[in-house]
Amino acid sequence: MIPEFSKPSVFMRDPQKVQKIMQSMVKAGFNTLQVISDFDMTLTRFAYNGKRCPTCHNIMDNSKLISSEGRAKLKELLDTYYPIEIDSSLSVEEKLPLMVEWWTKAHDLLIQQAIKKDHLAVMVNESDAKLRDGFQLFFDHLHKHNVPLLIFSAGVGDILEEVIRQAGVFHPNVKVFSNYMDFDEAGVLRAFKGELIHVYNKREGAMLNTGHFQELRARPNVLLLGDSLGDLNMADGVQDMQNILKIGFLNDKVEERKQAYLDSYDIVLVKDETMEVPNAILLYLT
Ligand code: TMP
Ligand code: MG
Repeated sequence: MIPEFSKPSVFMRDPQKVQKIMQSMVKAGFNTLQVISDFDMTLTRFAYNGKRCPTCHNIMDNSKLISSEGRAKLKELLDTYYPIEIDSSLSVEEKLPLMVEWWTKAHDLLIQQAIKKDHLAVMVNESDAKLRDGFQLFFDHLHKHNVPLLIFSAGVGDILEEVIRQAGVFHPNVKVFSNYMDFDEAGVLRAFKGELIHVYNKREGAMLNTGHFQELRARPNVLLLGDSLGDLNMADGVQDMQNILKIGFLNDKVEERKQAYLDSYDIVLVKDETMEVPNAILLYLT
């Protein structure tokens, strides 16, 4: 069907189901599609030259503009809670309170660091954050064909917007649901706005934004991209959904998590740092 599906990184539990969904989407037309994507470790790379790439939070955590004491504390949080986030022996119910704890502690530390709005662009520019290879085609193609792209992230909205702005792909068809910073009149971080979004409450986040999905009700076909099992809930607000094709990037702890990913994502991309497969699907659907 698609030559990219024979890449060694591509796994599917039910290739026939994938084929059926795609045929149905082709029939409905590209103008009935909406794309919903996670940001960290989905649109951005997990690793580059064997080194981990930063998430939105890590872009700030690693910055020289943060005190070394603050950096050490944020690193300690990451070392404590990231293993819990990806632990397949714990249920989502068990992880939930711990994720809230992680986000709350991290945001408190960032507020203590009195981060300046003016510094965000420099932090992003000096970071090792990288969008996946092929990101340009992905963003530009969706823009060219007026397909709405919702970036739904438990990261930090101000940072992710800056990443895509600096990459030249923050097009008007892109909408972001994320955690946004609240700055005082002097441009110093004082809080985070609205309801907290963490990796395992994206369903609640979707429900707070019914207006967006209402506007897109003429687009009942969804391409979903994520890297966490929590990302599967990003499309919970979509109205009158007809077809959904779910692509999951499995970046870490592959053997432990592969079966769970195969059971819930239609296509699983194992340690694939590129947008080749999503791009090939978009071209096929166009
Ligand atoms: P995402 O929804 O765009 O993937 O963003 C969430 C990721 O952010 C999640 O995988 C964990 C990560 N994270 C950090 O790296 N540092 C932090 O301090 C926090 C709270 C989250
Ligand atoms: Mg992610």
